Amino acid sequence: MIKISPSILAADFSKLGEEIKNIESADYLHFDVMDGVFVPNISVGIPVLESVRRITEMTLDVHLMITSPARYTARFAQAGADIVVFHVEAETPQSTRQAIEEIHGHGKKAGLSVKPATPVSELEPYIEMLDLVLVMTVEPGFGGQKFMADMLPKISQLKEMIDRRGIDCEIEVDGGINLETAKVCIEAGATVLVAGSDIFGAENRAARIEALRHGGV
Ligand code: DX5
Ligand code: ZN
Repeated sequence: MIKISPSILAADFSKLGEEIKNIESADYLHFDVMDGVFVPNISVGIPVLESVRRITEMTLDVHLMITSPARYTARFAQAGADIVVFHVEAETPQSTRQAIEEIHGHGKKAGLSVKPATPVSELEPYIEMLDLVLVMTVEPGFGGQKFMADMLPKISQLKEMIDRRGIDCEIEVDGGINLETAKVCIEAGATVLVAGSDIFGAENRAARIEALRHGGV
């Protein structure tokens, strides 16, 4: 079944607790961390994650958009992340492997993400170690951007890479997901859909989560 991961970036941070209660019918909670260097925006970090951990049982899907993420992956795992996802562009190959092992050592799932300009071949050396791969379908940094349809082949390539090996690795997409783009991503092989503005902007968020899960139909 398709999983939905609402992005808190589109939530009202002044009432984050209420906002989270409102989308608890979703599968994951997508927690966007930005350092103002890897991406041109700054969001939230470890103290906020700890607070969120205390108020929800949801699976916390933490997306690190930070430079040299291996310095912090263990801290995010300890702070309550269930899945720690970082960018392949932001780390050296050696630190990438070490960070994945460290995340697993904390009993958490590990994921790697690619920006739009990065080919999925960059993920191939790590694929057997990963629980999840994240394809950015916008330039990371901001919510509410337009979905880049030319990212769809990357989803199918990853599906092929995963199926060929018979491994268990989720394919997540992030950026510009709405009822229309959810459908094409699912068709291409995505198994987890991140959606920020579409879910938090909907009048009935639970209904929108359900509709996205069924690919807009
Ligand atoms: C963008 C973030 C996304 C963002 C998605 O850099 O990684 O998770 O919140 O927002 P929407 O769904 O509005 O494109
Ligand atoms: Zn994200």
